[in-house]
Amino acid sequence: MKGLIPNDFILDLIARTNILDVISKRVKMKKKGNNYFGCCPFHDEKTASFSLNEKKQIYYCFGCGASGSVVNFLMQYERLSFPEAIEELASMQGVRVPYTTDSNNQYDQAKQIESRNMRRDLYELMAKATNFYQQQLALPTSTDAKQYLAQRGLNSEIIARYKIGFAPNSRQLTFQNIVKTKDDAILYDKAGMSVNNGGGNQYDRFRGRIMFPIRDRQGNVIAFGGRTIINDSAKYLNSPETPIFHKGFQLYGLYEAQEVNRNPKQLMIVEGYMDVVSLAQYGIDYAVAALGTATSEEHIKLLFRATDSVIFCYDGDNAGRSAAWRALNVLLPCLIDGKDITFAFLPQDEDPDSLVRKIGKEGFEDYLKSAPNLSKFLFDELLKQVDLKTAEGKAKLSSLALPLLEQVKAKAFRLNLLQQLGNYLGLLEVSQIEQLISSNRYKNDGKRVETAPASNMKLTTMRILIGLLIQYPNLAKQVSDLDTIRQVKLAGIEILIELLELCQRYPNITTAQLLTECIDRPFYKQLNRLATWESHYQDDEIATIFSHTLKELYDNILAQRQDELIAKERVSGLSTAEKKELATLILVLSKKD
Ligand code: UTP
Ligand code: MN
Repeated sequence: MKGLIPNDFILDLIARTNILDVISKRVKMKKKGNNYFGCCPFHDEKTASFSLNEKKQIYYCFGCGASGSVVNFLMQYERLSFPEAIEELASMQGVRVPYTTDSNNQYDQAKQIESRNMRRDLYELMAKATNFYQQQLALPTSTDAKQYLAQRGLNSEIIARYKIGFAPNSRQLTFQNIVKTKDDAILYDKAGMSVNNGGGNQYDRFRGRIMFPIRDRQGNVIAFGGRTIINDSAKYLNSPETPIFHKGFQLYGLYEAQEVNRNPKQLMIVEGYMDVVSLAQYGIDYAVAALGTATSEEHIKLLFRATDSVIFCYDGDNAGRSAAWRALNVLLPCLIDGKDITFAFLPQDEDPDSLVRKIGKEGFEDYLKSAPNLSKFLFDELLKQVDLKTAEGKAKLSSLALPLLEQVKAKAFRLNLLQQLGNYLGLLEVSQIEQLISSNRYKNDGKRVETAPASNMKLTTMRILIGLLIQYPNLAKQVSDLDTIRQVKLAGIEILIELLELCQRYPNITTAQLLTECIDRPFYKQLNRLATWESHYQDDEIATIFSHTLKELYDNILAQRQDELIAKERVSGLSTAEKKELATLILVLSKKD
């Protein structure tokens, strides 16, 4: 991705840009101490928890955790790709992006322009298909489709609002109507509209189906869900992943819900297309559906950006409860204080569509009022698995609950959950439970993916080193011997090494530049958190702390070697040289303690 634009140019651009100028044009920021604060543009809030550190040239939101350099900010705020964000910065600085001219990169550049045009063409094609399906439904000859919708109880107003249509049961009718040129045919395929039969022919993917267009936040149709009315073995068929459609990132009905109300008081996530549409027809116009996939982190972020109150609605059977439990697990790490979350379980053999038809809007909303909130649902599920009357039961509850609770970053949620756990265990002090958490974390350290925010992370040697280095890249000058560090077998070592290499290659690299260099790395999120970690070390202590911590790392290598030799001694014995080495190691390492 970065091959197109020379790295030096990117680094230089970031060095020349002041993040404060870019952000304060878009968000109202006020200086407080060393930082600037404003209301976060990435989640709804009334208090200013979005901070900007001019010295480090990075931003961080204490509410939702959004953070990064000016490049990230533009990507997130303006919804740009990485190269587009660089273009934007360059035009602010009045410079042109010097795309490198070797043949490979020209190819990439051409591809990039092509991809921008292709998206536009794909939107256009999907709009045409939507139209065509709507026309087909309107034809007097489409009696089966009309009858089906009538039998499902959908009225014409709701059919129009959701742009519902009908894909005729024909192998190529839609194809022939939309595809006029060779390019169209390629595009039709890219849009996921066709299936190939192997003989090189393109057939329509959607045949004999009621078509539900899936719209993105701007209202573009980006995919379809189709329900068979001819008893095809697949009841529902969805568009595959395409350049404009990524399942895990879309919620069916969100655009339509926000069309009715920009800032809905609440949103309810249900399972099916028909559920969303029926509920809307009955006046519950705040339902959305994940597209036949499990609820993802991205879904939850979308919901939290749009509203403060989310209802997760599931069938009352076991499958429903386990789907809810999976959603809860995805939800815990991305909880935000101030959000209201409930889990609603419908009566046996009902789905939202059937239930709302029986009991109407008021009945349905009354039903929702009795839905358990997040903590009630969580503990209800855990308590089913333990017998609280016994000591073992209590221990089991705590071992089941702690790994869940420690994922919660939102302070108020976390405290509330801890207090409830405390009540069940008979512990009165929250501090006692916090202690449980830290011992639990210690036990699991190394196996667990780090999810805690920077401020209350457990500081391992590695995190201190990486955290200090990303914040003070100059410290890299203390490290002369990268090869020794490469021998360390500790979690996170590859991040440290990569940072050190970057610092050596670009001697005066800054925090924001380092972050941008690592933007596409798998550890980027962790790195971002460490860049905003408040160490509370004094400026003049930093270099010493770094060198001491580095020494711990070297000691760790020695200890590793000692363990290796001891193991070898047991298995196959040691050579004289090795015996000597071990004796020295034991001496050196025991002196240390
Ligand atoms: P359901 O089977 O619960 O269907 O699937 P439903 O919404 O009640 O549909 P009707 O009432 O029979 O028409 C729920 C959702 O799961 C996905 C679809 O997104 C559907 O809306 N699904 C289901 C599929 O993707 N493929 C299938 O074959 C079935
Ligand atoms: Mn149904």
